[in-house]
Amino acid sequence: MTDSLEYNPFAYAMHEDPYPTYARLRDEEPVYQNEKLGFWALSRFDDVLAGYRDWAAFTSTGGIALEEVGTDSAPSMIGMDPPDQTALRKLVVRAFTPTRVGALEPRVRRLTTGFLDQVVEAGECDLIERFAALLPSDVISTLLGAPQEVHSDLRIWTETLMHREDGVAKPPEAANQAAKSLIDYFGVLIEEKRKQPADDLVSALLEAELDGRRLADLEILGFCFLLISGGNETTEKLIANTVHQLARHPDQRRALLDDPSRIPDAVEESLRFRSPTQYMVRTTLRDVSLRDRTIPAGHKVMLLIGAANHDERQFDAPERFDIARKMERHLAFGFGVHFCLGARLARLEARVAMEEIHQRLPDYRVDESGVSVVHAGNVAGLATLPIRFSPSAPIGV
Ligand code: HEM
Repeated sequence: MTDSLEYNPFAYAMHEDPYPTYARLRDEEPVYQNEKLGFWALSRFDDVLAGYRDWAAFTSTGGIALEEVGTDSAPSMIGMDPPDQTALRKLVVRAFTPTRVGALEPRVRRLTTGFLDQVVEAGECDLIERFAALLPSDVISTLLGAPQEVHSDLRIWTETLMHREDGVAKPPEAANQAAKSLIDYFGVLIEEKRKQPADDLVSALLEAELDGRRLADLEILGFCFLLISGGNETTEKLIANTVHQLARHPDQRRALLDDPSRIPDAVEESLRFRSPTQYMVRTTLRDVSLRDRTIPAGHKVMLLIGAANHDERQFDAPERFDIARKMERHLAFGFGVHFCLGARLARLEARVAMEEIHQRLPDYRVDESGVSVVHAGNVAGLATLPIRFSPSAPIGV
């Protein structure tokens, strides 16, 4: 696997050969312009951070992807700036406090052990198909208040919604169909919760008030979409990438087996090293001068998270996976007003996943010949992760 290219969906978005690598951009064209495709890109850590910080110059209202996303019918706060975004964010932030997220841990663990128990006797599996793709979707569906029997439909629709052919900007027809199925379903869910509220996010949003008014169904739908589209594939990639990198670094894996309290450090390093979200897009609201160039107002700018997280101006030996690394911060969850709302939940899921994998499949080995990589818009990571391990009996929770 040619790592730098495989994990660089920016390169694929360019439709160009040879693809510019992140390293070349950072060193030679830190303020990069692609005239043919009409966008700019920032790749150095400091510049990407400044871009996230300065929402008044780099607006989210022009869209946060280069390609069409196929969910325009359900607008959400990720495509807004303060104060509109701040007001909407306040309504959901309560579902992601340390207490609320912490309360999800038993459920996350039960789901995790349930999925792993289904494979332990076989001695082999594709960890993504049997586990990493299933857990995040189940957790978000639960959070929203969707009943168990629709979780697998929701997961399949979300996967289809997010799927893109490499080098094709337009979403495939199947993605539009999946968006429609999700909209229809969330419409039904909202109606159900209106009749019978419960302790879940959709019910809470139905009760919430914004400037003295209730939210429109379309606004609630926007939240549902945002959570499933933002939280599923990214967390799946985080779990799979962490397992993969630890398999490639047996000494560091040994350290985790000896001292599981280091798992959160491994998760952070995995977020930096193989950031599931490789970039977000902004639009300049005014002319922005940076280094010796000026990006004129009204232009799309990619903030390249993947490149920033490998900038040697910020990280020592950034191409080394090192769970002992001391990091002030990385940009895998973005920064500033749009900082990932689900970061705490993603970290919880990844930690529990690693704890239980090391408990149940401690000697897992990755079959590198079967590993493959996928890009869906700005998300990059493993599509398949075949592993083998000593079969054992299910343990249960
Ligand atoms: C490893 C997993 C994840 C990664 C890498 C990730 C990445 C990101 C990034 C980079 C942003 C910033 C977007 C921007 O600046 O335009 C973001 C925002 C967001 N994420 Fe995540 N995310 C992850 C998991 C989740 C989960 C599990 C959820 C929900 C349960 C979630 C919900 C959101 C929401 C709602 C926003 C928008 C916040 C706003 O606009 O104020 N994310 N995420």
